[in-house]
Amino acid sequence: MRALQFSTYGGPEVLQWGEAPDPHAGSGQIRIAVRAASVNPIDWKTIGGALAGKPMEGTGYLGYDAAGVVDEVGEGVTGVSVGDEVFGRGRNTQAEYAVLDAWAAKVPSVDWAVAAAAGVAGETSERGLRLLHVKAGDTLFVDGGAGGVGAVAVQMALARGAKVVASASEANHDYLRELGASPVGYGEGVAERVRAAAGGPVDAVFDVAGKTPVEELISLVPEPSQVVTIANYTAGQAGARVTGGGADSRPMEALALTADLLAQNKLVIKVQTFPFDRAAEAYRISQSGHVRGKLVLVP
Ligand SMILES: NC(=O)c1ccc[n+]([C@@H]2O[C@H](COP(=O)([O-])OP(=O)(O)OC[C@H]3O[C@@H](n4cnc5c(N)ncnc54)[C@H](OP(=O)(O)O)[C@@H]3O)[C@@H](O)[C@H]2O)c1
Repeated sequence: MRALQFSTYGGPEVLQWGEAPDPHAGSGQIRIAVRAASVNPIDWKTIGGALAGKPMEGTGYLGYDAAGVVDEVGEGVTGVSVGDEVFGRGRNTQAEYAVLDAWAAKVPSVDWAVAAAAGVAGETSERGLRLLHVKAGDTLFVDGGAGGVGAVAVQMALARGAKVVASASEANHDYLRELGASPVGYGEGVAERVRAAAGGPVDAVFDVAGKTPVEELISLVPEPSQVVTIANYTAGQAGARVTGGGADSRPMEALALTADLLAQNKLVIKVQTFPFDRAAEAYRISQSGHVRGKLVLVP
């Protein structure tokens, strides 16, 4: 099969769409023939080498989510069969075939690229909102609401009946309004703008960008632990909670919820697609840090 790969650290120019060994479904896993796989910031962080912290060895592969048709079912897996259309989370998914560890059924009305975009963003959003106990009537601030995770978190919170204020650059304010959130600009003074837009107390903050000083986010909520961040790894020192998706992740449950919201049109993901052999263009856009919705690679 072919897979997106790199053999030296660097920018998007190191990416190659070339031959790679076939993966196979192990116990508790499925393999899919990939119809679409999304780009997440972790992908360009991986090729940059910062995550490894050691010299490059061998070939690296990329991708953490995808959608496709099941063609192998691993030992112990029930409820899914060869030929089923699914999406979910895995490793090395930016390839013709990929193994998923967690998945949900894709209904025919949901586009392949949209389903592929929903794996990491859906799981991360469910995790953040669950840790924050976001419920109907709460007011949530999503810092970075127009990006991959942010736009899904905004809609998932609205579907629960929460009121949502979200930050973005001016160019994305109409997009946030379209989703149903009250937009505010990020940067200096953001907390004041959030208070004004909320028109009352803020119950929870989901920081998906990691750019605002955590003390400013904490000033919005009754307790520091009501700030959960996925992108500011030093925020714990101030009492906020950092989640990286280990033991606090419930991927199958999260993807089932995501699939349900997609099927009901309560979750709409704006996608921009690129063929696999033009992945470098998508990586460059992701690296710019100003993505609206998601970037998705297709065969
Ligand atoms: N810990 C975890 O489990 C986990 C899981 C998934 C992702 N992540 C991390 O979370 C981050 C976001 O991921 P993503 O996929 O949502 O990225 P993305 O699609 O690239 O979105 C980034 C968003 O950040 C916004 N932004 C840029 N500067 C900002 C600022 N100063 N203040 C607030 N928002 C700002 C951008 O808005 P504008 O375009 O309007 O400027 C954009 O919408 C990445 O660092 C990623 O690695 C962590």
